[in-house]
Amino acid sequence: MKNTVVTFKEAKAKGEKLSMLTAYDYTTAKLIDEAGIHAILVGDSLGMVMLGYEDTLSVTMEDMIHHSAAVSRGAKHTLLITDMPFMSYQTSVYDAVVNAGRLVKEGHAQAVKLEGGKEVCEHIKAIVRASIPVCGHIGLTPQSVNAFGGFKVQGKGEEAAQRLLDEARALEQAGVFAVVLECVPQALAEKISESISIPTIGIGAGAGCDGQVLVYQDMLAMYSDMAPKFVKQYAQIGEQMKQAFAAYKKEVQEGTFPALAHTFKMDETIIEKLY
Ligand code: KIV
Repeated sequence: MKNTVVTFKEAKAKGEKLSMLTAYDYTTAKLIDEAGIHAILVGDSLGMVMLGYEDTLSVTMEDMIHHSAAVSRGAKHTLLITDMPFMSYQTSVYDAVVNAGRLVKEGHAQAVKLEGGKEVCEHIKAIVRASIPVCGHIGLTPQSVNAFGGFKVQGKGEEAAQRLLDEARALEQAGVFAVVLECVPQALAEKISESISIPTIGIGAGAGCDGQVLVYQDMLAMYSDMAPKFVKQYAQIGEQMKQAFAAYKKEVQEGTFPALAHTFKMDETIIEKLY
């Protein structure tokens, strides 16, 4: 059965936790889909973990469409949410609707995610009116890294905490089907989760959220440029890959790979006839 935004709504009503992981390519999407994860996020984190940028600001609509379309071919059951990149929606309500539409039509996304609070509510309402489900994202919103002065925990003080709670309520009113809470204290994430009727999806926001999301390269220990405190490494795939690459190099140099089992046979008398 295909997961949809209705799955998200029902999960919150039943108190069932939602799982989400990022993916940026067909092969990984297929594995995540087969593992039964509820949703895949084609995050603009792809700028960092796939393209090697220092932040997400250089990611383009073309990047997002290209990766989203690849993921869509592997995501048979899981809900596909694609990030709207920096400056694809902030510029105007019109741009927001046009670019959300492109992510659906060309990237085959079933929903889009965008960052921000009250300042993007008009944009969200217009996208939702165009029948495109929207996921909100508040707290540490990486597209605002320059305004925040770095990747920092948000909402620790009373004023900042109240602002985040108000933003979550405003996003709900604007029509988002879920909201990502990134890098906010656990107690605040719990308060927000209790205060709104749509699911909260936490990343660095504690277990009180209605679901969790992680970047797959982080949880598989494949990306070492940054090591956020909130990441749990479920496997050491980066190390396994390095070991496999080194073993391959060694066998190629020794001449033990390829072995006979990896080769194709022919009638060798033909070779003798060649001149
Ligand atoms: O881009 C991304 O991967 C994200 C998640 C970290 C929530 O926005």
